[in-house]
This record gives sequence, C-alpha cells and structure tokens, in this order.
Amino acid sequence: MRVLVTGAAGFIGSTYVHLLRGEHDVTVLDKLTYAGRRENLPDEVELIVGSIEDRDLVFELAGDMDAVVNFAAESHVDRSIADQEAFARTHVIGTGVLLDAVRERGVPRFLQVSTDEVYGSIAEGSFTERSPLDPSSPYSATKAGGDLLVSAHWHTYGVEAVICRGSNNYGPRQYPEKLIPLCVLNAFSGDPLPVYGDGRQVRNWLYVEDFCRAIHTVLLHGRAGEAYNAGGPDECENLEVVRRILELTGRDESLIEHVRDRPGHDRRYSLSSEKLRAELGWEPRVRFAEGLERTVEWYRDNEWWWGRIRSGEYREYYEQHYGRALG
Ligand code: NAD
Ligand code: TYD
Repeated sequence: MRVLVTGAAGFIGSTYVHLLRGEHDVTVLDKLTYAGRRENLPDEVELIVGSIEDRDLVFELAGDMDAVVNFAAESHVDRSIADQEAFARTHVIGTGVLLDAVRERGVPRFLQVSTDEVYGSIAEGSFTERSPLDPSSPYSATKAGGDLLVSAHWHTYGVEAVICRGSNNYGPRQYPEKLIPLCVLNAFSGDPLPVYGDGRQVRNWLYVEDFCRAIHTVLLHGRAGEAYNAGGPDECENLEVVRRILELTGRDESLIEHVRDRPGHDRRYSLSSEKLRAELGWEPRVRFAEGLERTVEWYRDNEWWWGRIRSGEYREYYEQHYGRALG
C-alpha cells in the first residue's frame, strides 16, 4: 500500500512508520512543529515538510495514495490551555482538508488517530465507543471536533473512514513535556518532579507500539464509519507513576514536588477495548511495569536525542510553565 502518514515526525506517528518499514510505501507529511523531528523517522522515508491545512499540497499528495493515516496534532493539554488556536486549526481545519482530499481524490481508506480524552473524565468503569463525547480541555474539544468531521464525511459522502482512540501513550521518543519523559529526565538530573494537585488522577497507560498495532489493525480491518477504542492494560495514579520512575532511576521521594493543579484537570480516563478485541483480535502486549522500564532505559541510552531538546524552545516552555512553582 502507498500510505500518507501525517504528523509522523512526532512520537506515535514515527513509531508507526518504523512498524510499517519494509511492508508499505510510506510518505510522511509533517509541519515539524517543536514536537516534530526528522531524526525520529527512518532515513529512507520521504518527509514532506508542510501542514495538513495546506489544501493544494494535501490534494497533490493524496492523489497517489491507497490510505491516509492522520497523526498530525498539537498534543499537549497544558499548551492548549495557554493558547487553543493552533489546536483548532490543526485538529478541525486540517482534518477537514484531509477528508476533502480523500473524498475528491478517491483515496480508498482514511484513519483518524484520536484519544480517550474526547470522552472526558469517568469516575468508575470504562468508556465504550457508544459513550457520548464530552471533552474538557481545548485539546480534547478540538480532537472531538476532528472526530465528528470524520463521522460526518462517512455519513454524508460515504468516505471510508475509521477512528482509533488510544489511552495515554508512553515509550521512546516522546517529547519531554509529557508526564513520563519529563519526570524521567528530571530524575536523571536530580531536578524536582512536578505533580499537579494531589497526584491522585488516574491514567490508563498504553505502550506506544501496542497503540500503533491497534491503529494498523483498524486501518486494515475496521468497519468504515466506526470508532475503535484502544486502552492500555494498566491504570495508575500519577503519584504512583512518579514513584516508580524514582525507583527505576535510583532517586528518592524528596524530589516529588506538588504544584498548582491543571485547570479543569480530568480526574480519571478509562477505555474499554472490548470491541477491538472481539472484532479484530487486538490486545495490548506490554504491561506498564515492563514498558516503563524499557522507556527509562531508552532515555538513559539516548541522550543524543533529548540533550538537544532540553535547551531552546523546551527550556523556554518549561520556565514559563513551571518556573515559579519549581523555584
Ligand atoms: P506529537 O506532538 O509527538 O506529534 C505530533 C506531530 O504532528 C508532530 O510531528 C508535529 O510536527 C505534527 N503536526 C502538528 N501540526 C501539524 C500540521 N498542521 N500539519 C502537519 N503536521 C503537524 O504527538 P503524539 O503524542 O505523537 O500524538 C499523535 C497523535 O496521537 C495525535 O493525534 C494525538 O491526539 C493522538 N494521541 C496521543 C496520545 C498520547 O498519549 N500522546 C494518546 C492518544 C492519542
Ligand atoms: P500528560 O502526560 O500531560 O497527559 P494527559 O494530560 O494527556 O493525560 O499528563 C498525564 C497526567 O500527569 C495528567 O493527569 C497530568 C499529570 N501531570 C503532572 O502531574 N505533572 C506534569 O508536569 C505533567 C506534564 C502532567
């Protein structure tokens, strides 16, 4: 298959492209925002630098494709709280342009990569694909907007589109603004590990390769017009995640620092993956303890990757976001 993968210079998309290596003919379209990096991709993969909002470019690229897989996103909730505009542009306008191109250029298949956050927070039990969308943050609201456009293109024009919604991912090459890589790197350097509020919020952790297998399974075999949830095998309170990182890096709990809570912070995410398991046979393979150990090891062995990130834009963001709180 010739596959256009958008946003694949980032964390999950690059893992997906590594997974497809040798089996499919991949072209990547990525804007290279602060989170996108050429070196995340295999050398032989063609990277077109540009935005999914660029109609001429997207229409030109889509013409040759058997499938489009859309990872392109602004992915950090905290940044969406500070400024939502880029989120709305990429998630809503950009997704709409991709869908128009898929329809008008006759691309046989479209997959939208989405998130458990579109369902909002749940105190007990797990969301299914039939749960109403009830997003809380500008990030998740605009992701939900993109998902709804995908469904509308299926209903209105019969575009062969599917959606795959994952829970919190972790693993190699995740930009260190997210909880796990941020805390791993801070633990390495003996800096404080910032925990929002009481740290009792719960996330459903999914190793990135497991999510990428789910995405590919849904691309190949999912029923058009349907969404499929891919949840991780383990849920964990943030404080427990941070404690495990301290253990794996040989640091003690004095590094934990409770900071101001995130506004509108979702308390718990939980996804049921029963549909994906029953219909398409997908199950996550990597338990959280094992995946976290692998992740810490990867960051230990790949300072070349994160050393450059921790200066420049990242430092500015970090100081603006945590500066005063972390002294
Ligand atoms: P990321 O921030 O690491 O990567 C996003 C990539 O998209 C970057 O390479 C960036 O340059 C690119 N991009 C941004 N705007 C673009 C545009 N307008 N046109 C083209 N490229 C653009 O994010 P990630 O964690 O890899 O997330 C990928 C996808 O998976 C997103 O759609 C996200 O909503 C979804 N998702 C993420 C998680 C998670 O835990 N990280 C969980 C479930 C779903
Ligand atoms: P994050 O990795 O930003 O993912 P998401 O917001 O998509 O769940 O955050 C994971 C959890 O960790 C979330 O409950 C917020 C919390 N968190 C902290 O406590 N401290 C931090 O510095 C960050 C970035 C997140």
